[in-house]
Amino acid sequence: MNHWDAIWLNARLATFDSGADAYGTVEDGAVAARDGRIAWVGPRAELPSGWRAQIEHDCRGGWLTPGLIDCHTHLVYAGNRAGEFEQRLQGASYEEIARAGGGIVSTVRATRAASDLDLLRQSSRRVAALLAEGVTTVEIKSGYGLDTATESRILRVARQLAASCAIEVKTTFLGAHALPPEYADRADDYIALVCEEMLPAIHAAGLADAVDAFCEGIGFSPAQTARVFEKARSLGLPVKLHADQLSDLSGAGLAAHYAALSADHLEYTSPASVDAMARAGTVAVLLPGAYYFLRETRLPPIAALRERGVPMALATDCNPGTSPCTSLLLMLNLACTLFRLTPAQALAGVTRHAAQALGLQGEAGRIAVGLRADLALWEIDRPAELAYAFGANPCVGRYYAGTVAPVSA
Ligand code: NIG
Ligand code: FE
Repeated sequence: MNHWDAIWLNARLATFDSGADAYGTVEDGAVAARDGRIAWVGPRAELPSGWRAQIEHDCRGGWLTPGLIDCHTHLVYAGNRAGEFEQRLQGASYEEIARAGGGIVSTVRATRAASDLDLLRQSSRRVAALLAEGVTTVEIKSGYGLDTATESRILRVARQLAASCAIEVKTTFLGAHALPPEYADRADDYIALVCEEMLPAIHAAGLADAVDAFCEGIGFSPAQTARVFEKARSLGLPVKLHADQLSDLSGAGLAAHYAALSADHLEYTSPASVDAMARAGTVAVLLPGAYYFLRETRLPPIAALRERGVPMALATDCNPGTSPCTSLLLMLNLACTLFRLTPAQALAGVTRHAAQALGLQGEAGRIAVGLRADLALWEIDRPAELAYAFGANPCVGRYYAGTVAPVSA
């Protein structure tokens, strides 16, 4: 029964499954797909005799990796914040701008005012940039609506992007991202709205796969975050958290307490919170784009994360305020240069560990039998090149669920 829909031959594989090294390398490998799933993977010499495939892809000696996964983005929004970038270059801090009514709230104004079509158009350009780099799964958060109607609109646009782009989209409800102006000085009332109205409505409409919050001095307190997480738990939704980005509020520990899929940012995370993450199986999502763009100097606790065996994922954090960036490949380079990850760790961070940060470890992120046949083909001599070069894009093929997928939206 070795009759397949497609086979990839003449490829070197970085499976991130098992293999000779940290990349899961298989030299002169072959991958076969049936019904959208990987049906066979291994050295070409070990292919079963009598195999047949409807389509043969000749990879010309290039490298196949799992399709890349961007596990933390806010890419559905309107407008941009180039003006705030100029203010920051004059000396204003991200927090000062936020407290003065700019920051996230200024993108909320632009997003509320945008039509659905505008939102879709502006967001699909950003998705197109990801597709061109071999991305086959992306997580998209709401959080620029901060009212039930606009939060729902953002998540609907996110679902529409999935339908039009041959990519899996995981949606995350981030109603607790910032305090909308109409709730000024009434943060607890806003959290009540998030828990009692927004989250139930969005859940009932099937628009959220997970729930996130911004636990920070300029965001929400641990107690307010816990209320949102309790509600998510009662609805059976997994949680994630923007934790310890600008200060240590023990956010990562709180996330671990709720068995979060991931805790993200983590620059100020304490050793105790790292321990809690290790025990809970919570993935650390590192966001070197935001670290770079905010000129942060405090590094996430990489050594402790490594030592405790906490899986580290990497993502763009694509958003207009702290990481206006749509290149996941650039994040590989930043993670190595700024955080001293090895190229193999960085690549595992946008494949295997990124899948785990989305609860998709049985579905994507490795080249292994049974997983969805999501692949990226690269014209490179060794996988470390993907982290080494920056501003380059050697992606020459993208395959989603076993079929050739467009590299533009
Ligand atoms: O992940 N920290 C909170 N949320 C985003 C920034 C959002 C914004 O500034 O628009 C982040 O960095
Ligand atoms: Fe973020």
